[in-house]
Amino acid sequence: MQNLTIVTLPNAVLRQKAKAINIKDIGKLGLKELARKMIIAMRQAKGIGLAAPQIGKSIRFIVVEVLPEPLVLINPVITHSSFAKELGQEGCLSIPGQWGFVKRAIKVDVEGYTLDGKKTKLNTEGLLARVIQHEVDHLDGVLFIDKVDKSQLLGGYKL
Ligand code: CO
Repeated sequence: MQNLTIVTLPNAVLRQKAKAINIKDIGKLGLKELARKMIIAMRQAKGIGLAAPQIGKSIRFIVVEVLPEPLVLINPVITHSSFAKELGQEGCLSIPGQWGFVKRAIKVDVEGYTLDGKKTKLNTEGLLARVIQHEVDHLDGVLFIDKVDKSQLLGGYKL
């Protein structure tokens, strides 16, 4: 597999609802290799999150790098969002040159599957919670520009 290319707007894949992955097919689909390639692409682009639709694959698969180690989630579902929200600055590797302030839940619980097919549940907050919300939105064809509060051409996280 060669290096992955990150797709940008107006590529239609970014607006599609991505398909759930059959957990029995993890090996057959080569998801460990895909995760490795996505993490490389994310790091090269200096991002801290990447969803599969951003590399042209309409499947429910994300990588996030906020913790010391990258996090890979298959079929992630946010099962609880805190009532408390906060504004934070975001950008997106698929929308170069744009940043904005987006209101997100401060804490979210997320469930999904690991690359070994095991169910996992994480209680997250702060930046990690923000990145997970941004990436799960990608799986539903939702982009941060749909939710932006105040558009500003400033630097920020690329997710
Ligand atoms: Co993004």
